[in-house]
Amino acid sequence: MTEEEHQRRPETPSDRIRKAFEVEFERFSDSPGSLPEGEKELRELQELRIKFLGKKSELAAQKKMIGSVDPKRRRDFALIFQNLEQDITRRIDEKELRLRTFVLRVRTERESIDVTMPGRRPRPGHLHPITLMRERIEDIFVSLGYAVEDDREIETDFYNFDALNIPEGHPARDPQDTFYTTDGFALRSQTSTVQIHAMQRRGAPIRMIAPGRVFRRDTPDPTHNPMFFQVEGLCVDRGITMAHLKGTLAELVHRLFGPETRTRFRPSYFPFTEPSAEVDYSCFNCGGKGCRICKGSGWIELGGSGMVHPNVLRAANVNPEEFTGFAFGLGIDRTCARIYQLDDIRLLFENDVRFLEQFR
Ligand code: DAH
Repeated sequence: MTEEEHQRRPETPSDRIRKAFEVEFERFSDSPGSLPEGEKELRELQELRIKFLGKKSELAAQKKMIGSVDPKRRRDFALIFQNLEQDITRRIDEKELRLRTFVLRVRTERESIDVTMPGRRPRPGHLHPITLMRERIEDIFVSLGYAVEDDREIETDFYNFDALNIPEGHPARDPQDTFYTTDGFALRSQTSTVQIHAMQRRGAPIRMIAPGRVFRRDTPDPTHNPMFFQVEGLCVDRGITMAHLKGTLAELVHRLFGPETRTRFRPSYFPFTEPSAEVDYSCFNCGGKGCRICKGSGWIELGGSGMVHPNVLRAANVNPEEFTGFAFGLGIDRTCARIYQLDDIRLLFENDVRFLEQFR
């Protein structure tokens, strides 16, 4: 057949099928734009295969007619559809292979890990500087045989004041003014409350510390915050004297700041101790010569202390004729601020991680 003859030849069923296939096959690409597109083309290619080669395809219908064709033309007729079937099958198979290769490659790329990429390091948390300080103090006292008491932050006036020998109207209530609930409870203004609870619960002899949160109606400024942390200490036994108090606090500062650290006791007044003393320790930075940290004095204030007042023992049902004891109260955050040279104590409570991260 010449080209011209071919053009003029009427369209045969085989031509029609081939044409229809070409029209539909055209839209399949070799490299789809994305993984979902590739997967979609693969699915549609299967549909195309069924449409043109399946049992219900026109090709199948034509093949069924082979038997009824004039035996002289039967061979040619069969050959035409056999060729057509082979062509379509080959075209679809090739396309399918390309698409499968593409989908597999993209999936593998997506799932593979680039080991040269910089990692995203999980940032481990760490303890708050106040917690670190509290734990150091706890460890020291536990090693000295003290129990660690944890107690309530909401109190009655009895525990916060009366039992601590601060009756109503006593001027010592003023600087310890706190926050009250509408039904008469108070946020404790000192951890000294735990002395009473612990003695009521466990009697004497007793050795305990009570770290915890306290509250005062102070206006926040660089050295004050309405909420802060203290550690209370209490040791009650037969024959306890001021010497035991001094020895214990000397041991504390030796372990916290080094064995060369000295202590100094200044006479003072607290309602719940008699006699009472403020405790200072020699500056950990300059050793007592005077520097910026100790504001030139060579000494840093640790807290208050004294011999437990007999009224306090009585309020907790401990017989002051039989037992004596010492007590002390230290500021945890104050000590923290001093050690880390913070010029504003409130930084410890703002919980800005960029700040806190510096102290681990
Ligand atoms: N409770 C006192 C305060 O908050 C501190 C204190 C002083 C506690 C002397 C004591 C002590 O146990 O003996 O200021």
